[in-house]
Amino acid sequence: MPTSVLSASSASAASSCRAVSSSAESRPSSPADSSLFPQHTCIINREVPEYSWGLPMETNETLVRVENLRKYFPIIGGTIPRKVANIRAVDGIRLHINKGETLGLVGETGCGKTTLGRSILYLEKPTSGRVFFNDVDLGELGKGQLRNMRQHMQMIFENPFASLDPVMRVGDTIAEPLRVHNIASGKELEDRVSDLLMLVGLEPDMADRYPSEFSGGQRQRIEIARALALRPSFIICDNPLAHLDVSIQNQLLSTLTWLRNWRDLTYLFIAHDLALVRNISNRVAVMYAGKIMELAETDELYDNPLSPYTLALLSAVLVPDPKAERDRMIILLPGDLPSPVNPPTGCRFHPRCVGRKGICSEKEPPLVSVGNDHYVACHVGS
Ligand SMILES: Nc1ncnc2c1ncn2[C@@H]1O[C@H](COP(=O)(O)OP(=O)(O)O)[C@@H](O)[C@H]1O
Ligand code: SF4
Ligand SMILES: [Mg+2]
Repeated sequence: MPTSVLSASSASAASSCRAVSSSAESRPSSPADSSLFPQHTCIINREVPEYSWGLPMETNETLVRVENLRKYFPIIGGTIPRKVANIRAVDGIRLHINKGETLGLVGETGCGKTTLGRSILYLEKPTSGRVFFNDVDLGELGKGQLRNMRQHMQMIFENPFASLDPVMRVGDTIAEPLRVHNIASGKELEDRVSDLLMLVGLEPDMADRYPSEFSGGQRQRIEIARALALRPSFIICDNPLAHLDVSIQNQLLSTLTWLRNWRDLTYLFIAHDLALVRNISNRVAVMYAGKIMELAETDELYDNPLSPYTLALLSAVLVPDPKAERDRMIILLPGDLPSPVNPPTGCRFHPRCVGRKGICSEKEPPLVSVGNDHYVACHVGS
């Protein structure tokens, strides 16, 4: 039996996030836009209640389109160094993200989420496949054009302890993209940095300090300010709440949600916490070993999961109702994520799948529509 089932009360839960209502809220009205940011933007943490995670008003207009994207990292070996194998971090992904939408991306550590995000932004050049941003094929752009395009696409990295330069004042860190793109200099640059710091709930005079003088939550705010500096329309949030206390996570999430609604941002939100992802995403994609296993509108995915892998992930999510929580069954997956160098044949999940059939180890299931904007890659579930 490849998979065991335990009751929630006897097994540790994977999620630490409180499940909350995902009811939509009205979008904050757009601020007057004569300057980069309006005055008095420092109010965000006081005005936004802790759980104001209302969904944005997505459109049907595609902002990002990913076609058959692959990113392989070569392994070099031998006495005469040469490529001996590939790490198939991302292995044939197709998806789109609509303007104004938040697409959640979940999956175990090592399944390729960060690499997918970096490849979408061309921070890693894809091995093959195409990425379109506003119908522009990023693979066709020259270096300068790509740099210009990056004004509109930014990434908030997982670990602010690693991503901030320890010997650079935070003001300079935030100002860097504005300088590189010749957007501001002198007093105007200083003002913009002050605005950005206030926008993420920090004080303007913090610009002169170094990253070591800040807590983890404050560093992540600095990361967000840097990502916002060029007024992007699309941000990849790569596990931005990892390594932070739950109370700080809630504050940051409020900030990210407020910014998204106010600035009409589109997010690809990568996270491990499925309860959190449910509350902020319009749709959710489930990734495993470099592939998308399932993709659907959020409620559809959580209420009607079709892939055994999604079921296993969801079974670990805490339920707020004590009775339901007591009765909750957790599916414990045996073993680990397979090696990305030599993934299993057929369905990559088959060695760990409780529902597998003969065909599962022989033929790879394609990601197919089952209606209702719901896609699944499973011989049994589709
Ligand atoms: N720069 C790199 N060079 C070689 N292997 C990498 C590199 N970046 C990521 N990988 C590998 O690609 C796989 C996917 O990694 P990653 O995208 O970081 O996964 P996740 O974000 O889901 O944890 C892992 O096996 C990881 O070791
Ligand atoms: S295709 Fe087979 S092995 Fe893969 S998830 Fe579906 S049932 Fe499990
Ligand atoms: Mg990652």
